[in-house]
Amino acid sequence: MKKIEATIQKQDMLCIEAAAGPTGFAVFGASGDLAYRKLYPSLYELYRRDLMSDHFYVLGCGRSEYTEQNFQDSVEKSLRQDLDTFDEAKLKAFVKHFSYVSGSYEDEAFYQEICENLLNLDERFDVSGARIFYLSVPPFLYETVVEKIGQMKLQCPAISGRLQQVRLVVEKPFGRDLASARQLDDVLHRYFQESQIYRIDHYLGKETVQNLLIFRFANSIFEPLWNRNYIDHVQISVAEQVGVEHRAGYYDRSGALRDMFQNHLLQMLALVAMEAPVSFEADRIRDEKVKLLRSVRPLSAADVDKYFIRAQYTHGVIDDKSVPGYRQEADVPADSITETFVAAKLFIDNWRWKDVPFYLRTGKRLKRKLTEIVITFKSVPHSMFQMEGLDDLPPNVLRFQIQPQEGMYLSLQAKRPGSKICMSTLEMAIDYQEVFGVKMPEAYQRLLLDCMLGDQTLFTHHDSILASWEILMPVLESWSQEKEIASYPADSEGPDSQATLWPDSACGWSQL
Ligand code: BG6
Repeated sequence: MKKIEATIQKQDMLCIEAAAGPTGFAVFGASGDLAYRKLYPSLYELYRRDLMSDHFYVLGCGRSEYTEQNFQDSVEKSLRQDLDTFDEAKLKAFVKHFSYVSGSYEDEAFYQEICENLLNLDERFDVSGARIFYLSVPPFLYETVVEKIGQMKLQCPAISGRLQQVRLVVEKPFGRDLASARQLDDVLHRYFQESQIYRIDHYLGKETVQNLLIFRFANSIFEPLWNRNYIDHVQISVAEQVGVEHRAGYYDRSGALRDMFQNHLLQMLALVAMEAPVSFEADRIRDEKVKLLRSVRPLSAADVDKYFIRAQYTHGVIDDKSVPGYRQEADVPADSITETFVAAKLFIDNWRWKDVPFYLRTGKRLKRKLTEIVITFKSVPHSMFQMEGLDDLPPNVLRFQIQPQEGMYLSLQAKRPGSKICMSTLEMAIDYQEVFGVKMPEAYQRLLLDCMLGDQTLFTHHDSILASWEILMPVLESWSQEKEIASYPADSEGPDSQATLWPDSACGWSQL
């Protein structure tokens, strides 16, 4: 396929990047993997780019014992290892804003100490603005920590300033099914209003995922085609090359359906398929997403096998290196039937999408890392080139590539120079990094900045969470009865059974 490239026509027609005001963070699970890999590097990057006020602090709260100095040293060391480039002076200044308090999550004295530290740090860094409680602890601790924050009144305006400036950030998973998601929400809502709760789905912070909104609702040429009359089917794939890594303890209890499908994939589905919101406001966008998720055709238990496929990876060779099967990974039970791959066919029962299949899949240890949304349009109704042997013309395909390289691609048929009828498929390509000449920011940077700014647009509303668990409940119930699971070799495209979701063999999953 030939490629034609895009250039920027009008520079920065609209580019607003507001900087956050004074903010104090209380990070629970401050010495954990997520905090070191995502939070601190993203905060540093925002600080380096002057998108954060100098009036900020991070109070690390956790079980590990650290003094303030140890904690600062350890954050600095890890940033030096992680970041490709850093500004020496800024890095030194940045870590000076870090402090630490250790204790047990169940212990009231720990929260008392946190409270005293927060008040001191407010004064030391002159922060009288937002206070953000960040739950970076394992999900089984969410309720405990929030209950304690609530009981000790750390979230109360008397201690923390104005109500709307006190925020709670929660990482997925938001429950493990509908009942537990409701229960978690009850606890969160006991102490925080919905407008204070920021549920992170980091896929919503990815540039191309956000670009779906701009692409769909700031251009007029595609929206008239964005429906059952012109679109044949939609695919959403999140393929990973990595295995379970060192997270078996969590992953084996979750599996791909809970870990990726319930959140990242269904959120992308909602953005691709929702109706146009009336304005670019958090609640208006979130309303449309919820409406869309509620329109997903419900499954009966008997239909699950027809619409959902699951499997688990076995060993294989990736880049000349032998990799273990899921059951041989550290801390995975040898008889685990947790799925590492899910594929599904969903329908959306509304006027726009009736009977258009949406194919969604995600898996670990697949051939390559690729996240993409592929919109396949209907083929032309009649080929006037039949006489020339060109009967079945390939359909136009629009691809939003989210990873590894962010970009948009549209395939078109065109005449190739030469004999009278000679056709080629061309691809119009917009490679974000090439076009804009900047490295795509880490999703957490966008999300942390928005949280400090009090913008919930890219965070998940609890209605959305409940709607997505409702879609998946029959699947979870049906799978919980199963005693075994199909397999696929590492470094493959997943199990062959995923092909059975397609009505005929003329089309199928896009290649990994
Ligand atoms: C996380 C999942 O939410 O997303 C992981 O828990 C997964 O299992 C990760 O590996 C993938 O994120 P990304 O941004 O690398 O596609």
